[in-house]
Amino acid sequence: MQPLRGRRLLLGITGGIAAYKAAELARLLVKDGAEVQVVMTRAAEAFIGTMTLQAITGRPVREALFDAQHEAAMGHIELARWAELVIVAPATADFLAHAAAGMAHDLLSTLCLATTAPLVVAPAMNQAMWRHAATQANVALLQSRGVSLLGPDEGAQACGDVGPGRMLEPVEIQRAVRARFADGRLSGRKVLLTAGPTREALDPVRFLGNRSSGKMGFALATALVAEGASVTLVAGPVSLPTPAGVERIDVESALQMREAVFTSVPGTAIFIACAAVADFRPAAAAEQKIKKTSETLALELIRNPDILSEVAALPQRPFCVGFAAETDDVEAYAQAKLRAKRLDMIAANRVGASRGFEVDDNALLVIWEGGQQSLPTQPKSRLAAQLVNLIVDRFDAQTAAENT
Ligand code: CTP
Repeated sequence: MQPLRGRRLLLGITGGIAAYKAAELARLLVKDGAEVQVVMTRAAEAFIGTMTLQAITGRPVREALFDAQHEAAMGHIELARWAELVIVAPATADFLAHAAAGMAHDLLSTLCLATTAPLVVAPAMNQAMWRHAATQANVALLQSRGVSLLGPDEGAQACGDVGPGRMLEPVEIQRAVRARFADGRLSGRKVLLTAGPTREALDPVRFLGNRSSGKMGFALATALVAEGASVTLVAGPVSLPTPAGVERIDVESALQMREAVFTSVPGTAIFIACAAVADFRPAAAAEQKIKKTSETLALELIRNPDILSEVAALPQRPFCVGFAAETDDVEAYAQAKLRAKRLDMIAANRVGASRGFEVDDNALLVIWEGGQQSLPTQPKSRLAAQLVNLIVDRFDAQTAAENT
């Protein structure tokens, strides 16, 4: 199987220690049948040899903007037109800054500016550099222009730090590239999902929250990308890396989650509400830290808007999938929620006694009008793939019925 057969990929490599992994990425893409043209920055050459990449891809590596010999064979504008997809891995903070500023100071940055092909970047840098406001602003600007972000991952770094900034593994980048070209069942469809808990501020340092880990929602996002969907994930505060190929919007509170969902919902084919949204928030968050001046403390809570119900009530509504976490009478409560929220499908699970939240395994009872299916206990990644299959089956059936 060569899922990238004949695809013309331009692989940009910039100067970070993760550059050595780019050789493995090039190998995987070539093995998938792609034509891979490597373009390296000067700094990248300090980390990996051009001969290695030339041997793997079977094409001379391009480095200089004004190289008479290479320009005669294929000029840089021609190269920019040749590419169907530009992947920059690793992408340093410096590269992201130049790309965000639209600079064309070397061959790679010039190609990024001159191409109309989509650009995906896999950042790799020290965690403090990744967290820096300048880098975050550059990334946000690039994303707002349609650049896709792959990672970065969290973990131990070459410099000894621990945190976000590791380049995604080559196989994960390969998976994301495959998904872009795959004719999955959701190719060309936009899917929006919420995941994780919300935090409702009590004062500047305290909040009301819950135990949701976000794992199920993140597993669903991965499974949706594998089906070719273009996925937007609105995530509450969780410590999970962004699945490859997913556009992620981080939020804290239910109100922020609602705003992010309503900004993203136009054009959405399927909405999956997987987040454990707090049903209530403090009526007013104290501006200063609450002091323990009395023996009791009464909190006034007010209802949060039900994001899922509001989306399901839109005149141009997407196919809506909800979740229900129940401790008892799972089926009856889930049926009631399916009807009350006017959903197309609901996935219910039993929670409590180490089931459902904060664990890697889960089981679901999936219900829709006129049918239901039990998905047995298994790792959330496999469960997610099965649930996505059921969702697409129902979605396809509904779309077909609407078109007849
Ligand atoms: N949901 C939402 N916005 C909220 C609350 C819930 O979008 N403010 C979504 C969740 O993402 C989930 C489903 O609605 O898909 C859960 O429904 P809900 O009735 O809130 O479940 P519970 O909180 O378990 O309800 P109850 O306490 O009534 O059992």
